[in-house]
Amino acid sequence: MKLFSEPAKFQLVASMSKEYLPQFYVMLEQQVGIALDDTKQYLLESRLMPIAAKNGFPDVYALIKVLTQSPVGPLHWQSFEALTTNETSFFRDKHVFEALRKTILPELIEGRKKDKTLRIWSSACSAGQEVYSLAMMLKEDFPMLNDWTIYIQATDISELILEKAKSGIYSSMEAHRGLDAHYLHKYFDHSESGSYQVKPAIRKMVNFSHHNLVGAWPFYPKFDLIMLRNVLIYFKQDAKDKVLEKMQQQLNGNDSVLILGAAESIYLNDLYKLVALDKISYYKPNTSVKV
Ligand SMILES: C[S@@+](CC[C@H](N)C(=O)[O-])C[C@H]1O[C@@H](n2cnc3c(N)ncnc32)[C@H](O)[C@@H]1O
Repeated sequence: MKLFSEPAKFQLVASMSKEYLPQFYVMLEQQVGIALDDTKQYLLESRLMPIAAKNGFPDVYALIKVLTQSPVGPLHWQSFEALTTNETSFFRDKHVFEALRKTILPELIEGRKKDKTLRIWSSACSAGQEVYSLAMMLKEDFPMLNDWTIYIQATDISELILEKAKSGIYSSMEAHRGLDAHYLHKYFDHSESGSYQVKPAIRKMVNFSHHNLVGAWPFYPKFDLIMLRNVLIYFKQDAKDKVLEKMQQQLNGNDSVLILGAAESIYLNDLYKLVALDKISYYKPNTSVKV
């Protein structure tokens, strides 16, 4: 006698193999901040499939079982990295870069003209387009900074994406997303294979390093401008709040600036003051409030 009809049997096997998912979601959130749930199973499966196959697991759920039952190691980090979203482009959100050029950077420069030092942090820099856009803008539009000390830090959790960022090499399609002919011509070397590489003078302006926003923070100087764009959107509120608290401590005084992604905001948090400017808004630290 058959105990199950075929579809019922299949469902039982499938649901049993997913029993470690809730544990995995908790682990991912604790280690990386990223909040996943069952509505994103397609993403989980497509991103982890190659890692499962490469490491000899019959499917993604067998990999997940092993991950939840062993101490965090290289296989975990490979899997966590695969679940990050690295989507980015040069001058992403042109209103932000216009505001930087016309208002935010001129104000910061005015406020720091005695020390002639400007510190900038791109804190989830992905493949580097955001931070190179900023570096190019400083060269292009702010010649008065030539005798200043400009310190630019760019960090990300993904070692793979950081390698790409450091190389400054982009496919023709990546380079054409957000860059006009003037920038391509002036700040990139074009190779015969069709790719573009950021010129050494711009690459040298940026220090890239690994940093997990929800892990331990290394010592950083205080920054005048922090870009924290399109990463907190993947985090749960609790993880977001903790990162924003630490960010407030990294900002260099009342007039320093924190910029989030276009779809992100700081909700009910008296650590920051919202500044609304034409088509964008950004934040300044409320330094009278201590964490
Ligand atoms: C969508 S990209 C944003 C890139 C760029 N800031 C922009 O707005 O175009 C998000 C980046 O956040 C990084 N990321 C995700 N979780 C992170 C964490 N816990 N710490 C640091 N970076 C993280 C990812 O690796 C990815 O490169």
